[in-house]
Amino acid sequence: MIVEKNSSEIKRENGFIVFEGVNGCGKSTARKTAARLLAEMNISAVETFEPGSGTLGGILRPLILGEKAAWRSPIAELLLFGADRAGHVTEVIKPALEENHIVLCDRYYYSTVAFQGYGRGVDLSLIKTVNDSAVAGVVPDLVLLFDLDPLIGLKRTLRRAPSESGDDSFEKEDLAFHNRIRSGYLELARTALERFVIIDASRELQVVEDAVIKVLEHYLR
Ligand code: TMP
Repeated sequence: MIVEKNSSEIKRENGFIVFEGVNGCGKSTARKTAARLLAEMNISAVETFEPGSGTLGGILRPLILGEKAAWRSPIAELLLFGADRAGHVTEVIKPALEENHIVLCDRYYYSTVAFQGYGRGVDLSLIKTVNDSAVAGVVPDLVLLFDLDPLIGLKRTLRRAPSESGDDSFEKEDLAFHNRIRSGYLELARTALERFVIIDASRELQVVEDAVIKVLEHYLR
């Protein structure tokens, strides 16, 4: 929805913005920057993330991100992320959008395409079926892709305090897996250029933060 604020300024007051990228790319920090910017502009925002938001997500997150287990397979992963997302959309995202908040979401269905599709090799058309069912038409208006060499990202995750990230077995996968994910994201961005903004996340934190603010200010105008 576009709301006229005053005669000279048009402001968008709701919308769905997603933050994506390889592990350690800085998207969670960027989401916080975005939330701060919106608060300064008196625009109400809901910050959320996948996997693990909402009632079902809270149960699923430790299971999905935990250490390797006998049940784990690429298909089981796909379906668990799908279940997490279906619950998240129904319980958190859709109600927030209906109440005219801006939703800032750390990872969404692109993560499943990148990680389970390009990373694990699950058939992309099967992923599309699961994703489409889970999101029920709730698609983002804007996707910020934080592009980074996974080697740098993984080094950053090692420097993080354990409590910041919790357990994440994906971070222990080999570099080839993470390189496939990065390529997958770039391929996704190429096929949906109208929705994606690629941000070079290898730069200094402040430079990346400024880039995020610039993109958001443009989007909100
Ligand atoms: P986080 O590090 O951003 O909290 O994300 C949790 C992990 O889950 C991260 O390693 C990426 C992975 N993931 C998938 O493999 N598929 C998905 O659909 C999502 C949302 C996350």
